[in-house]
Amino acid sequence: MDIAKRGKGNPMRASATAKEGSNALGRGGNISPTEQALFDDAARFFPGGALGGNALAADARFVFDRGDGSRFWDASGNEYIDYVLCSGAMFLGHAHPAIQKAVADQVSRGTHAFAYLNETAIRLARRVMPHIRCAERIRFTTAGSDSTFHAIRLARAFTGREKILKFEGAYHGVHDYAQLSTAPKVSGNFPHGVPDTAGIPAGVQDLMLVAPFNDPETLASILAEHHQDIAAIIIEPIQRILHPKPGFLQAVRELTAKYGIVMILDEVVTGFRYGIGGAQGYFDVVPDLATYGKIIGGGLPVGAVAGRKDIMDQADPTNKGKPGYVYQNGTLQGHMLGCAASLATMDVLEQPGVYDNVFAMADKLREGLQKVFDRHNLGILVFGEGPMWHMLFTDKVPQDWREVIATDTKRMATFEAELLRQGLFILPNNRRFISIRHTQDDLEQTFEAADRAARIFKR
Ligand SMILES: Cc1ncc(COP(=O)(O)O)c(C=O)c1O
Repeated sequence: MDIAKRGKGNPMRASATAKEGSNALGRGGNISPTEQALFDDAARFFPGGALGGNALAADARFVFDRGDGSRFWDASGNEYIDYVLCSGAMFLGHAHPAIQKAVADQVSRGTHAFAYLNETAIRLARRVMPHIRCAERIRFTTAGSDSTFHAIRLARAFTGREKILKFEGAYHGVHDYAQLSTAPKVSGNFPHGVPDTAGIPAGVQDLMLVAPFNDPETLASILAEHHQDIAAIIIEPIQRILHPKPGFLQAVRELTAKYGIVMILDEVVTGFRYGIGGAQGYFDVVPDLATYGKIIGGGLPVGAVAGRKDIMDQADPTNKGKPGYVYQNGTLQGHMLGCAASLATMDVLEQPGVYDNVFAMADKLREGLQKVFDRHNLGILVFGEGPMWHMLFTDKVPQDWREVIATDTKRMATFEAELLRQGLFILPNNRRFISIRHTQDDLEQTFEAADRAARIFKR
């Protein structure tokens, strides 16, 4: 396929399609005056010239212009195959026709009803709750961070305890209770966490305990000592690039049940990705609460907290002012555009074969990349399961965060910057995703781009 032809309709694209002698994918040194002007404006407007906490290297950064399926184009017209997919939110790929239609149909009928009842949100609850095993009740939120924050508050109110246990290397969002030991460069002694950002009060740090992932014995010993203070354990079923050892999630379930601790399964990444039933179905585990973001919104800001009726019903607003009432709200909750996109997402994901295809495509991607890296003797292991894939300079799949940082992550970041220059959007040292719209053609071009990157990297 002539991929240059896919980027039509933008005059800036002419410069990219005319990249004589260079590869059609990737930046290839091409920055148009328009894109440069946008970089310059961004540098004046935003801290660090960035919209949020992620910034790319100066020679690899881009201004997103347009996405379609598995690909996107920057403001200079350069084309990329997307394995970041907005941190996994775009499981349906960019600009999916079903989402476009659902949003367009909804927008003419109003966009939002300020967290008051609207039919779109009610239809969405009816649609997603049967897929979420723990869901006796649900609340829609506007992001994953919102969901984990509210789940933690519900758990504290329910148990009357204050401490929360999380796992080292896990990410649960931006709030103070989440920004501890998400990616520590220096390991603390368990169960003490290391703050990931300035601005977290010492009192909050005292309320958080940290345990190693995939280590039920250490978890059991921390709980034996601290259980009477712990309201919740929050856990990513697949923690970044770490898959749970068989039985680990079940051990967390048993220990939380034993001590009356609320188990919060953070399904922001796994929800609707590892099958329509998410990690609860995939790993056969039913938590007390589950949190959602990313896929559920179809690229729009929708998240959810779902779970046990007795815990969720603390947020019944008719009890406002009474003891035990938990405030759970947000101006944009139940947003009708988001809920419409979410319903369209369910239409797509409930089709037979969708997950089989994406799982098979991900297997082919891992196998093909491994072959390329082996051919060049790079010492990279490509691993993962289902629609997430990872790579590290290692010969064994890591089991916890400390095994991840023991690998040469700096060298991996250098290699990944080269992959990006070759047109594969892959975040340095992070998990990678694949959408239901990646094709065999994408895979073949990915292997070619990885081969070019490997040749340059070895020089
Ligand atoms: C497991 C997990 N929980 C929570 C969050 C926070 O979600 P959001 O960025 O939508 O606030 C993320 C984001 O990457 C996540 O991966």
